[in-house]
Amino acid sequence: MGLNVAIVGATGAVGVEFMQVLERRRFPIKELRLLASKRSAGSKLAFNGQQHTVQELTAESFKGCDLALFSAGSSVSKQYREACVKAGCLMVDNSSAFRMEDGVPLVVPEINPGEAVKALQKNGGKGVIANPNCVTIIALVALAPLHKEAGIRRLVAATYQASSGAGHAAMVELQEGTRAFLDNKPFTPKVLPWPYAFNLFPHNSPWMEDKGYCEEEMKLLKESHKILGDTSPRITATCVRVPILRSHSEALNVEFVKPLSVARAYEILRQAPGVTVLEDRSKNRWPMPMDVSGKDNVYVGRIRADHSNPNTLDLWVVGDQLLKGAALNAVQCAEVALLGKLAPNANP
Ligand code: A2P
Repeated sequence: MGLNVAIVGATGAVGVEFMQVLERRRFPIKELRLLASKRSAGSKLAFNGQQHTVQELTAESFKGCDLALFSAGSSVSKQYREACVKAGCLMVDNSSAFRMEDGVPLVVPEINPGEAVKALQKNGGKGVIANPNCVTIIALVALAPLHKEAGIRRLVAATYQASSGAGHAAMVELQEGTRAFLDNKPFTPKVLPWPYAFNLFPHNSPWMEDKGYCEEEMKLLKESHKILGDTSPRITATCVRVPILRSHSEALNVEFVKPLSVARAYEILRQAPGVTVLEDRSKNRWPMPMDVSGKDNVYVGRIRADHSNPNTLDLWVVGDQLLKGAALNAVQCAEVALLGKLAPNANP
C-alpha cells in the first residue's frame, strides 16, 4: 500500500532532498517517478536502496499520480500545473509561482496545518499547496509561537542566506569559486551575479524599483501575513547572500504588542514544534550553519531584550534551507493533506 509520487526537478538541489526526506520519514510510496528536463532523462538516482531512472517531464507524467513535489522553478510549475491537477494529483510547489494566489494555501505545518487540506476540498480546492519562501519558513517556525503569545507589532530582519537557495549550480559555483580564490586563479561567476567566495552581497532577486526592496525581502512581508492570517505585523528585511552552502541564518528584531520576557520566550520556544534551542552562554555558543545543515528543526539562540526599544526581543535563528526551508516543509504539507498526520522529525 502506498501512494504514487512524482518529483519534478529530481536532479536539483531540493529534488535530491525530497527523496531523502521521503525515505527518512517512511512516506508510504507505491511508485516513485523522478522527473527532470530532457538533459537528465536516463540518469539514475538511488531511492530506498534501489536505482530509479530519471524521466523527461511531460504533460503525461502525472497520470495515476497522487502527489507531485515540484522544485524546478516557477515557469515549470506554471507550465505543468494544469496537467498535474487535471490528473487528480496533489501539487506541492516549492516555487513562488502560486504563493500569493487566492485560494492556494501557503502552508507551514507547525503553524497553519488546517490550510493544507483546503487544497483538496471538492468545491474550491485548487489541488495546489504552495511551499513558502525559505527565509519566511525559517523565521516563522520560531516567531509564530511568540506571535501567538504576545502579538508581533514589528519585525526587522537581517538574513545571511546560503548558496543552496539559488540551486545546485550555485552551490557548485561557491565551491569552485572558493578553490579558484585560494589557488589565486581567475574565476568568472555564471550563476550568481558577483564573486561569492570570501564575499557577500544583497540578495540578487529582482529589484522592485518603486519600493527600493528586492523581491526576496518583500516575500518575507507578504508571505508572513498570509501564513499567520494576520496583516498587522509590520515587517522589513535586508536579505543578503553569504558564502555558506546550505543553511540560512537570520537576525530577528521583534517588537511585541504585549510584554514578553526573555525567560518566557525561551520557555515557549523550548516547547515549540520543529524548534531546537541551542546555546551555551558560558562558551559563547549559539546555532551556526554547520550545526544545522542536515537537521530538520529550526535552531534558535541568543534571545535577548533589545535595550534600545521596549517590548522588543532579538533572536538568532538558523535553519537548513534545503530541508525546513524547502523539501521537508513540502513533504510535511503532503503528509498533512494526504495522510492526515505529520511523521516525527527524523533528524531534529
Ligand atoms: P535538469 O537537471 O535536467 O536540468 P536546481 O534548483 O538545483 O537548479 O534544480 C532545478 C531542477 O529543475 C533540476 O532537476 C532540473 O533538471 C529541473 N528543471 C529545470 N528546467 C526544467 C524543465 N524545463 N523541465 C523539467 N525539469 C526542469
